[in-house]
Amino acid sequence: MSRRIVVIGSQWGDEGKGKIADMLTGRARHVVRFQGGHNAGHTLVIDGQTTVLRLIPSGILHAGTTNHIANGVVVSPSALAAERAELEARDVPVADRLRISSECSLILPSHVSLDAARESGARQAALGTTGRGIGPAYEDKVARRGLRVGDLFNPSRLRERLEVALDYHNFVLTQYYQVDAVDYQQTCDDLLAHAEALKPITTDVTNALRGACMAGDSILFEGAQGALLDIDHGTYPFVTSSNTIAGGASTGTGVGPGYIDDVIGVVKAYTTRVGGGPFPTEQDNATGRHLAERGNEFGSVTGRPRRCGWFDAAALRRSAFNNGLSSLGVTKLDVLDKLESIRVCIGYQLDGQRLDFAPAGADVLARCEPIYEDLPGWQSDTSGVRELAELPPNARAYLDRLAELVDTPIDIVSTGADRTDAIVCRDPFG
Ligand code: GDP
Ligand code: IMO
Ligand code: MG
Repeated sequence: MSRRIVVIGSQWGDEGKGKIADMLTGRARHVVRFQGGHNAGHTLVIDGQTTVLRLIPSGILHAGTTNHIANGVVVSPSALAAERAELEARDVPVADRLRISSECSLILPSHVSLDAARESGARQAALGTTGRGIGPAYEDKVARRGLRVGDLFNPSRLRERLEVALDYHNFVLTQYYQVDAVDYQQTCDDLLAHAEALKPITTDVTNALRGACMAGDSILFEGAQGALLDIDHGTYPFVTSSNTIAGGASTGTGVGPGYIDDVIGVVKAYTTRVGGGPFPTEQDNATGRHLAERGNEFGSVTGRPRRCGWFDAAALRRSAFNNGLSSLGVTKLDVLDKLESIRVCIGYQLDGQRLDFAPAGADVLARCEPIYEDLPGWQSDTSGVRELAELPPNARAYLDRLAELVDTPIDIVSTGADRTDAIVCRDPFG
């Protein structure tokens, strides 16, 4: 059966999207990244070997799958080259399996400098970005002064547009932030040096996906970051600069919403967040440290420690609505194995009122007090379990309660980092 499925993060990122996408790729002919850039870090563990993908879609390790980087993604040619080289060194035939849209916006070295200058805190409070130039690249895209992948193959146009962009960036860098300018000639030469390698894999991704739809091929749209980091619907300003919610799969690829069959929300059995911003169920205590240690909660790209806390059903209800979730993929259940008792936030208390749905606005969310329900732990090893029937009754009861609280069925339960460590309750690809 041909299915087109969006897999998104439904919290603040790092839910295990890469693992779920890789696991489902066996069933999809195409895997597509539609937003974000190399701020993402998607970890795949296959037979004990770890691969961390930043920009390249998580289907790249499967023969017979075409991976697409669609229009909505911001692309650093140097980051892409580095990631490609790492995979090619392991004999992954990237050129055969990867296509990139000529319409992707470019991340320039000056975007990285601007990101760093802002994050230095000299002029404004730091947000805790990944420092990859993501925000400034999206700003230029929306301001219509950005460069695109297609410009790499038209040197005179590239030089012209780069001059205009760098003129502006360098003015801001030197005059406003009082840091060093970025060299025009160096940037131009570096960009043009990537053109040859990119040319054969650059295409009209939207048209390629149209062909896939017409041929009845299954497609997996792989989200990056998480719904609560969405530029319009997340905890602004503590967000990333793209639409991370499922609707972004349409805007970022040009595949209309009517072509999408299902949306799977990947969610940890608890919650993490990296960088600044409100996090009502955060446990800045021994519990948080236990989750961080058992869950190895350090950024897969930046290595930063992730903040940890309990599952938040109020936040998930908002996310489920924003994404139109068909089902959940619950990950890292095994991380809770040792806990005697597990808390779940079922709503908030705010100004004497009870809320079941996370409120809009980071400031408002920051004032919310979680209302918790305590569930008994199972205190036995669930790592690597592949059958629902093999889970301890309390673990099953915990999962049932999450599904009930979010009013969304669970398709997949992940019980370890490896590709095969999972229970498939319902195969989303049918
Ligand atoms: P992504 O950005 O959503 O793809 O997630 P990351 O790869 O950044 O972070 C998820 C981390 O959890 C990675 O280190 C994965 O290998 C690991 N992981 C994924 N699923 C599970 C699971 O079910 N159990 C455990 N223990 N680790 C998992
Ligand atoms: P994956 O795809 C978790 C966070 C950053 C920061 C904010 C803005 O691996 O889940 P940015 O560099 O995007 O301007 O940073 O967003 N952030 C992520 N957090 N997982 C990610 O990606 C993230 N990508 C960005 O920490 O708070
Ligand atoms: Mg990640």
